[in-house]
This record gives sequence, C-alpha cells and structure tokens, in this order.
Amino acid sequence: MKALVDLIEASHHLDDDQLRVLLTTTDAVVVDYLHERARAVAQAHFGTGVFVRGLIELTNVCRNDCLYCGIRRSNHHVARYTLTTDQVMECCESGYTLGFRTFVLQGGEWGDERADWIAGIISEMRRRWPDCAITLSLGEHSREVYDLWRECGADRYLLRHETHNADHYASLHPAEMSHDQRMQCLQWLKELGYQTGTGIMVGSPGQTVDHLIEDLQFIREFRPEMVGLGPFIAQHDTPLGNHPNGTIDMTTRLYSLVRLMLPSALIPSTTALATLSPDGRLQGILAGANVVMPNLSPADYRDQYALYDGKAHTGSEAAEGLQQLAAQLATIGYHIDWSRGDYRKNLAP
Ligand code: 5AD
Repeated sequence: MKALVDLIEASHHLDDDQLRVLLTTTDAVVVDYLHERARAVAQAHFGTGVFVRGLIELTNVCRNDCLYCGIRRSNHHVARYTLTTDQVMECCESGYTLGFRTFVLQGGEWGDERADWIAGIISEMRRRWPDCAITLSLGEHSREVYDLWRECGADRYLLRHETHNADHYASLHPAEMSHDQRMQCLQWLKELGYQTGTGIMVGSPGQTVDHLIEDLQFIREFRPEMVGLGPFIAQHDTPLGNHPNGTIDMTTRLYSLVRLMLPSALIPSTTALATLSPDGRLQGILAGANVVMPNLSPADYRDQYALYDGKAHTGSEAAEGLQQLAAQLATIGYHIDWSRGDYRKNLAP
C-alpha cells in the first residue's frame, strides 16, 4: 500500500479504487507514511514556515439556510451582528501591527444589495494596506459582484463546494441552493483571476467514501490555489445537531492526499480541526497543511459567529495568541512565515 503513496506523490493522481484504499486502510504504518510524504512535499515547497491569515468575521447575518450551519437564517437563537466599516478597519489596523499581511473577510451570505457597501470596504482596505492580500469568503454572488470586488482590489476568494455529489449537496442545503450554481460561482471566480479556494466538510451527514473520492477528483481537476478542509462539527440549534462529528483521522488523510495531488496548494489547518483537539492544528500541519487563520474579529462578537459548537477562538486561535501559536509551532520545528504567502506554482525544483 505504501506504493500507492509513492504513486500519488510521483504522478499527483490515483484512480478511484486506489484512493479508496488510502481513505479506508486501517494500517497505521501506511497512514503515517502518507502524512510523512505529504509533509516532505509541503516542506520542499514552503520549508517549515506556516502562513498566517487574519480572519475577520464581518457578519453572522445570512440569507441561506444550510442544514449544518449555526448561522443559518432559521436559527433564532443567535444574536445577529454586522461589523461597521470602522470596526473592520480597526481589525485590519491591529492585525497589520501584529504582522498580518493577509486579511480574510468572511461572513454570512447576503443578496447583492449590500455588494456596494462591501466594495467600499475592500477599496478602503486596498488603499490603506496596499501591501496586503485581501481574501473574501462571502458565499455565492453574481458574476458582476465578484467582478466589482475584484476590481476594488480583492485577490483571493474562498468558496467551499462542500460536497461534489449533487444528491449529497441537496441533502445538506435548502431547495433554493444548487450544486450547479456553486460550480458556476467557482468557475466565475477563476475566470476573474481570483486565487480561488474550495473544499469540503469532512464527515458531514450522509457523506460516504465514494463522495470523498468524487471530491478529491474534483479538487484535482479544478486545481484551486487554496483548499479548505475541516471536520463537520454539529451545532445544537441546527437540524443536523445530533449527527456525529467528523474525525481528525479522515481530515488529516485528506490534507495529505490533497498535498500530494496539488503540491503547491495553500492548505489551512482549520479552526474546526483545532476545535476537535488541542493539538489538531499541529496534526494538520504534520499532515501537509501550511496555513493557519487566527481570528482578528472583535472579541465581543466571536461567540455569535457560531458555525458549530465549541468553535475554538481563544489562545492561539485569537490573534493575541500569536506567541502561543509560534511556541506551539516550534514544538514541531515550524515557525510563522509572515509574508503574504500568495500561491506560486511549482516553488520547488
Ligand atoms: N461544522 C463544520 N464546518 C462548518 N461550516 C459551516 N457549518 C459547519 C459545521 N457545522 C463550514 C462550511 C463553510 C465554512 C465557512 O464553515 O464548510 O463553507
């Protein structure tokens, strides 16, 4: 089975049955080897540096009603908030002082009616911090809106496809959302020149190994610059609140497989993984991830951005915990890389 790991490292590709073997094997020696090779490939491209992105949770107001998500519109147990433009600028200001050179504006999805307001925020950020990358994670919009935001200076866009299987997608989302529209949005983002990120929740309700294979083949073909993968974690006020969480094991296998398929991809070790275990973040990096996204949102609002239960946001998850993050990384021989960390193809020889 180790030969399959060598094969995906060399060819960046496995067929469905070969992927199935690596996704389901219970042989710890093989899984360790998978992580070891993914880590080696990540180090060949990025050394032992980990890029950081300052995450700003702009709003928990959302028009969507995704069945897994704590900020879905039918959840009446969340107090809704939207940061003001000034608050966003204060987040960036303190983030910049801390050393961040990428800001990620993430939020619930609004209709295009607020697009101009967000465009104004992006323009202002671009003007005040011309050396920083601006990443958006604001859901599905029209091509025109994506174009407008790109023109204002946004560089990157994160839009997880969540699952590539249309039936599975339909089982996790309200009827007005569709897998086809998601794919259309991802296509537009690419065409408009965004560094584009996609990805999935691992262990989401109804997910099978076949779905994961489909997701991996899609990711390989789509060639996103960024791949966000985190375990599903139940949120008690959602219809899927009783479903078991995804696992660290499956999430880190996927990090390694994606690393070997797309060697120069930017792969965050996600907050959801850190939520499952105090050393989840490090396990992710040791499996080939190379980005972390500490939270820059004002402390008073963090509890309200409750996508899932127990979401980590203290200690090294908070921007103030950067020293703690650096110390944690040092225990495995890694350090924070403070550069913008743009996608660069084939960094290694
Ligand atoms: N568990 C894990 N991840 C979740 N997300 C939303 N709800 C949950 C949950 N219950 C993820 C989705 C979305 C991202 C912003 O947060 O994948 O794309």
